[in-house]
Amino acid sequence: MSEILRPVVRPRRLRTSAAIRDLVAETTLRPRQLVLPAFVREGATEPTPISTMPGVVQHSRDSLRRAATEAAEAGVRGIMLFGVPVTKDPLGTGATDPEGILNLAIADVVAEVGDALVVMGDLCLDEFTDHGHCGVLDEQGRVDNDATLQRYADMAVVQAEAGVHLVGPSGMMDGQVAVVRDALDEAGHLDVGILAYSAKYASAFYGPFREAVDSALTGDRRTYQQDGRNARESVREVLLDIDEGADIVMVKPALAYLDVLRRIADVAGEAGVPVAAYNISGEYAMVEAAAANGWIDREAAILETLTSIHRAGADVILTYWATEAAGLLD
Ligand code: PBG
Repeated sequence: MSEILRPVVRPRRLRTSAAIRDLVAETTLRPRQLVLPAFVREGATEPTPISTMPGVVQHSRDSLRRAATEAAEAGVRGIMLFGVPVTKDPLGTGATDPEGILNLAIADVVAEVGDALVVMGDLCLDEFTDHGHCGVLDEQGRVDNDATLQRYADMAVVQAEAGVHLVGPSGMMDGQVAVVRDALDEAGHLDVGILAYSAKYASAFYGPFREAVDSALTGDRRTYQQDGRNARESVREVLLDIDEGADIVMVKPALAYLDVLRRIADVAGEAGVPVAAYNISGEYAMVEAAAANGWIDREAAILETLTSIHRAGADVILTYWATEAAGLLD
């Protein structure tokens, strides 16, 4: 009885002041671990707000350069670029046009910030196709895996020629990492790395992103992105990507998949491969919407979100809050 009224062991002692909480904190997220995803719109002369992602814009080429500089100055170490072309077609030819918006933006950002940021390019066709799928379609309208691989190979080389540091294959085609690695090596781009979207789930939380890139998609991506009921399957995807030459593996989305992230961090950790997680558009939008309504403390929610993703095992976090969060963390 007395033991119940006066516990001998008191974990609360380590929570009595901010100083002692800092002293024993297990997780420290730093700005250097953040990557800013950014959208750039062909022909734009000024930034256009994205209504589903308050605070995020489709950049013009000029405003993108400024955003990259600000991110670097805040201590962020990477930027992931997405292009929004004016015209889309079945093959997504804008993706492999050296004058296409994404490739121009890569060159712009590299010229602006040099090696201060790791410049990454989304390697996927969905922003460039008129049907909105991540690959090209066969006669039956299905996403054709192997025909798509050839497009990804070409896209990787064009991005490398524009100066990209890491390509981010995000289309979930089988064999995409191996094909991209081979194409880069064949073209002499031995130092261009691959940030592989290895465990990428078909998710309702991508909704706001579809406006961000003016997506033409009707239907869903369930024949190529993973089923949210599966976790073991993500281990298989990650091991394949590591085998095929991925330099960093990624889990996406982050919040609804923190268990998957933990598992992948253990598996990739064994193999010595860094792990990234993508704090996606819907995760961003939920916090922004609740904060706009006065329902949550916005900054605290941002820091708690990012810290949780790091605690679950991500070495690197892609987040639309990267520049602001770097300031909050400093
Ligand atoms: C595919 C891609 C998507 C996102 C990043 N790369 C969309 C999708 O798979 O449907 C989503 C990012 C986000 O929601 O923040 N190019």
